[in-house]
Amino acid sequence: MELFAPQIKSSFYNYTLRLHRHHEDLFVKLVDAMMCGAPIARQIWTEIDSGLRAHMDTEERHILPEFARVDLEEARALLADHAKIREQLLECGVAVDLHEIEVPLSLVELVRHHAVREEKLMERWSAQLLVRDSVAPTGH
Ligand SMILES: [Fe+2]
Ligand SMILES: [Fe+2]
Repeated sequence: MELFAPQIKSSFYNYTLRLHRHHEDLFVKLVDAMMCGAPIARQIWTEIDSGLRAHMDTEERHILPEFARVDLEEARALLADHAKIREQLLECGVAVDLHEIEVPLSLVELVRHHAVREEKLMERWSAQLLVRDSVAPTGH
């Protein structure tokens, strides 16, 4: 039981951090491609759109209910961020076709800000698991 929380912290936490950085990297590639007028921008955009949607769906199903036990208000705010991100994803798809670079730049700011909030709450959630497991009875 005592090994459970650190394992979650190192694997799940690191996985999420990597995924957040991956999304940011894709946005950088998208903006570069749009600035050059490279046709690959559409393909990068499709990867961002489907990746972010799948990530948010997974969080809503499996992660946010856990976060709500730590901080209900913050978990609700993260959910509201997801709604804003989904809205901007729709706009951004059109903007990529129209070569309007400001829209993905504004979306990446929103996604980055959201990731920071999420990572802070994830830290608190991990810390609570550590405390809970360290005081849990170990009898069989
Ligand atoms: Fe999220
Ligand atoms: Fe996330």
